[in-house]
Amino acid sequence: MGPDEWRLLRDVRLTALDRAGGYLDGERAAEATAPPAYWRDLLATSTVWQAARGEETVGLVQYRSEDGIGFLSGLWVEPHDRSRGLARRLVATVIAHSREQGDSELRAYVAPANRPVVRVLRSVGARPTGRLRIRAGTPHGPRLEVHVEHERNGAPRGGSRS
Ligand SMILES: CC(C)(COP(=O)(O)OP(=O)(O)OC[C@H]1O[C@@H](n2cnc3c(N)ncnc32)[C@H](O)[C@@H]1OP(=O)(O)O)[C@@H](O)C(=O)NCCC(=O)NCCS
Repeated sequence: MGPDEWRLLRDVRLTALDRAGGYLDGERAAEATAPPAYWRDLLATSTVWQAARGEETVGLVQYRSEDGIGFLSGLWVEPHDRSRGLARRLVATVIAHSREQGDSELRAYVAPANRPVVRVLRSVGARPTGRLRIRAGTPHGPRLEVHVEHERNGAPRGGSRS
């Protein structure tokens, strides 16, 4: 999404929070009343991809990079469009982008009970790091940190230097 698309991002994001069954992190009330600057800033500091069906946005995912580590968040697919591989394609796009950006790894945070997203992330090679993220008031309990480690020069990270 481009910098001018903040209204679309806000509308889709609020719809996503309504239809995510508590699996999306974020405070709906705060986001619903956030000023335009919040959404412009989000688009300036993150990269956002959407999945479209015709004119309608039916999927969303966000990426940002901090200190050489990529973070995937906000993954959502409209209920009617699920189980068609849209999330897997969105995640694969973010993984490729993160690698191109030079990140050492891409991290995401998931509720272990969220079987669809666990399945999607596992299928693209994401593995648990062993860390948990605990935030008060988050439905479905602590989030499990998972990551995809990017290979460098064709060799797995941490491999031989020769
Ligand atoms: C998680 C989510 C993005 C997946 O979107 P999607 O487009 O349906 O995902 P995909 O079609 O790419 O893959 C879904 C996988 O989950 C599987 N799946 C679907 N429902 C399932 C269930 N109830 N239990 C177990 N697996 C399930 C599908 O079979 C598929 O796996 P497969 O291709 O190996 O068969 C979507 O369910 C969603 O928006 N959920 C609410 C928000 C959310 O949880 N976001 C993630 C926050 S970390």
